[in-house]
Amino acid sequence: MLDWYKDAIFYEVSVKAFADSNGDGIGDLRGLIGKLDYLRDLGVDALWLLPIFPSPLRDDGYDVADYTGIHPNFGTLEDFKALLVEAHKRDLRIIVELVVNHTSDQHPWFQASRDPQHPEHARYRDWYVWSDTDQRYTGTRIIFLDTEPSNWTFDPVRGQYFWHRFFSHQPDLNYDNPEVQKAMLRVVQHWIDLGVDGFRIDAPPYLYEREGTNCENLPETHAYLKRLRAFVDAYAPGTFLLSEANMWPEDVIQYFGDGDEVHMNYHFPLMPRIFMALAKANRAPILAIMARTPDLPAPCQWGTFLRCHDELTLEMVTPEDRAFMWDFYAPEPRMRLNLGIRRRLAPLLDNDRRRIEVANSMLLTLIGSPFIYYGDEIGMGDNIWLNDRDGVRTPMQWDAGPNAGFSDAPAARLYSPVIDDAVFGYRQVNVAAQRADDGSLWHWMQRVLRIRKQHPVFGRGTLHFLEPYNSAILAYVRSDGAQTILVFNNLSAESQQVTVDLRAYRGKVPRDVLTDVVWDSIGGTPYTFTIAPYGYHWLALE
Ligand code: NOJ
Ligand code: CA
Repeated sequence: MLDWYKDAIFYEVSVKAFADSNGDGIGDLRGLIGKLDYLRDLGVDALWLLPIFPSPLRDDGYDVADYTGIHPNFGTLEDFKALLVEAHKRDLRIIVELVVNHTSDQHPWFQASRDPQHPEHARYRDWYVWSDTDQRYTGTRIIFLDTEPSNWTFDPVRGQYFWHRFFSHQPDLNYDNPEVQKAMLRVVQHWIDLGVDGFRIDAPPYLYEREGTNCENLPETHAYLKRLRAFVDAYAPGTFLLSEANMWPEDVIQYFGDGDEVHMNYHFPLMPRIFMALAKANRAPILAIMARTPDLPAPCQWGTFLRCHDELTLEMVTPEDRAFMWDFYAPEPRMRLNLGIRRRLAPLLDNDRRRIEVANSMLLTLIGSPFIYYGDEIGMGDNIWLNDRDGVRTPMQWDAGPNAGFSDAPAARLYSPVIDDAVFGYRQVNVAAQRADDGSLWHWMQRVLRIRKQHPVFGRGTLHFLEPYNSAILAYVRSDGAQTILVFNNLSAESQQVTVDLRAYRGKVPRDVLTDVVWDSIGGTPYTFTIAPYGYHWLALE
């Protein structure tokens, strides 16, 4: 099916962190291949791989030094081809990163661009955004606030400033240059030729700069993304494009075009509001953002997530809400980073199984296609004392053996220490223990993923909110031609009385698809029931 992404469950995997096959302390492609059966058993459909390209790894590979190769830490192009074959055998799709906006300062394009003595300088001179002054585009915000004082950095070799929206070792490419435009299409072609199923387009809002604007979401940027889409449609129809536009709904909607730009965007503003609604035991933040969320062109889909490899971003909330979120979820200063929170899902939710379940209930039923961050299926913890975002990128915890079963290397050689604290340490939290325990979070995740997939209405149906009087209840109806499912989530730590007008469904009998319990049929009076603390029900009407 061409629109497979509407039914898919995505799994975000850091190759570095997943499994080390050769004992050098770093996860690799062969290691990941060895875990594909695990991922198939869990029930995911597509793997989004964090960057695997040659890179100085100063931004974990988002600083690309060669768009066509594989970083030797992770293996070879042959290993990557083997991964594609093995993944496809198991009906798993592979999505790779397309870091369009910037390269590493070690990329040969930048090296040639910065150095007038370089033999290829004439060709690459205008591949980056150079300026004699750092006073251009002053209306542009800084994203990595904790490390970068400016979006301009002076390069002594060239004697000019270069523009960068992220780290100062990540110069932005100059998309006004037609050669740059073509070069990125050739990168796309290269990975399509190898057999990838799609791309996650990193940081797309920042491709062009124009004086007098905030240099985000510019019409020129959309024109280029449409060209990229037209290219993949012509070259390899069905190639999937996912964009990481961390923007308000009215801006992000532009990235779908008329169905002729990208297939999927993450819904960034929804994510913090799921946490806010749980913290306040009130559905209002979710209703407010969904009211601002436009319908999508037919072939398009939202991508939803609770956590990812970055800090939990609070860019898309008001300053008051950000202060609330920081107070509630990041009481220690070290938990904060840039405009966000560097913690994983389970620690954020106090390792409370009920809260983890109800958060996932919303993730899996509210809208779009869900993304699960590696390790969150077992409730892995974090290490806020590691640098930058490294604390949410620690080795996957496979078992209670040395190095959590991640690697045979001496512990001191691992790319990162494993989590080893009393609550989240690998002896307590690991895949082997949870797979051996029917009541574990892992088994719960496996079951709810399967049930979600048995009901395509969750990926494709319409969404309509019910507004029971009790505002601690988030309730909605997902519906398509074949099925109607009512979802109730209790956002509070107390059991709640729910009274809801379901007269539109009079005569129907609700069946909870998670437990198979059949409920009282719906009559002509308000429907009333009690919902457990942080309880949730997915009720199919039959
Ligand atoms: C977004 C990525 O998710 C993040 O990890 C990275 O640092 C920036 N883009 C810059 O590429
Ligand atoms: Ca390795």
